[in-house]
Amino acid sequence: MSEDWTEAYRPKGLDEVLGNPKAVRDLKGWAEDWEKGNPSKKAAVLIGTPGTGKTSAALALAADYNWDVVEMNASDQRNADAIRSIALRGALGETFSNTGEYLSSKDGKLKLIVLDEADNISGREDRGGVPAMAELVRSTKQPVILIVNDWYALSRRSSALKNGTLQVKFARIKAPTVRNVLGNIARDRGIKISDNALEILAENSNGDLRSAIRDLQALAAGRTEINEKDTISMGFREVEQTMYSVMDDIFKRMDPAEARFRLRDVDESPDHKLLWIEENLPHAYRDHMDLYRGMKAISRADDFLSRVRRRQYYRFWAYTSDHLSFSVCAAKQKEIRGYIRYQFPMYLMKMSRSKASRALKNEISAKLGDMAHMSIKSAKQDLLPSFMLLFQRQEEFRLNMIIDMELEQEEIAFLLGAKVDSAKVKRAVADAKKLVNEHSSPKNNKIDVEKKAEPKSAPNQARLFSF
Ligand SMILES: Nc1ncnc2c1ncn2[C@@H]1O[C@H](COP(=O)(O)OP(=O)(O)O)[C@@H](O)[C@H]1O
Ligand SMILES: [Mg+2]
Repeated sequence: MSEDWTEAYRPKGLDEVLGNPKAVRDLKGWAEDWEKGNPSKKAAVLIGTPGTGKTSAALALAADYNWDVVEMNASDQRNADAIRSIALRGALGETFSNTGEYLSSKDGKLKLIVLDEADNISGREDRGGVPAMAELVRSTKQPVILIVNDWYALSRRSSALKNGTLQVKFARIKAPTVRNVLGNIARDRGIKISDNALEILAENSNGDLRSAIRDLQALAAGRTEINEKDTISMGFREVEQTMYSVMDDIFKRMDPAEARFRLRDVDESPDHKLLWIEENLPHAYRDHMDLYRGMKAISRADDFLSRVRRRQYYRFWAYTSDHLSFSVCAAKQKEIRGYIRYQFPMYLMKMSRSKASRALKNEISAKLGDMAHMSIKSAKQDLLPSFMLLFQRQEEFRLNMIIDMELEQEEIAFLLGAKVDSAKVKRAVADAKKLVNEHSSPKNNKIDVEKKAEPKSAPNQARLFSF
């Protein structure tokens, strides 16, 4: 299998260049102008990351319009001088062939000059590559295409290049397009590939179609069928699984081994996995015996989980996961049909809600601790309760503290035991602001300075923080 699939499936015409319709349209327009003999820009730059079809588009364009092509890799040292001569000959309307012979243009055929990796020439400033390219763009009698990954670096160095070219951007190829291309190639090669495997390859390609096709070819070596496990065993990162995405595998399908495989891939802690299955089991299994066996499997999973905790036998995590997937899946007698509305575990929801207020409490305690020279922990335990009482009951104290501790609206709400957007909280914020403004107006400058230092030394605060 010496054949290179990326070459075998290179687009033959612009219509086969996928994923960047605007780029293709712009290129066509540019080529038409050349055909009519009056291009507004004599050169086009194709800009984009590798594997998005830039080289293919240039070649496809030449094929569509029946132009000759002179292709050069600008990053090749040996070509630096050649580019300069091309620039020279371009001015005369003559070009090289691939083998270095002159091609005269008297037959009227246009000759597309393609400078691939044109941004790599910019590394060699001393060799005059950029000026040569700019000269080529300025003086050429033939269409020129520059291909670059990083246009910014190059255009910065030459405004002649920047202004003399039509810039055509090639975006990364979207995953569904990559998936389609791979699917078509697989079909063409008589290879069965699963949707999941296609998905993994497409996601892994990150918009680089060339590498996606390479991956597919590597996977296809010696196989007639490709599934998810093959892709993973070849080292491809699996698409991140969420608990939502494995629910159906566990509760609806009848393939426990697959369910086990899928759940193991989910990046969640075993106790979270358990909460998910526990929450959703009763929604899924309506048959009493199914439900009974499912609950038994979950309780076994829970046993292993507590053994992990008690004895630090982390190996048991695997059993937890297997009972949750394999056993729960196998607990039902037949496939479950219809839509199931899966729920996020209630317990986790409550915990995450209280997490925010716990964090808030810690923040306020830290500020308090700073002022009172106490640890966060003792500020939280000993100081916060009485501080909250004072804060709620005494307006002056409240406003001073808001200013002095630079309390945020959420913190104020927490201390007042009110909602963040309640009138009470808003009023406290507004009053504090007013107080600050009053004291920071120019004529009150002095008071402002005193005021800032005041709360700590004011009698009531002194009492609060000096015990
Ligand atoms: N937009 C595309 N449409 C169709 N095939 C593509 C596309 N982009 C890349 N390919 C595939 O990837 C291979 C390499 O693409 P290429 O044009 O050399 O990318 P680039 O020059 O942007 O790095 C092509 O031979 C083709 O098989
Ligand atoms: Mg290329």
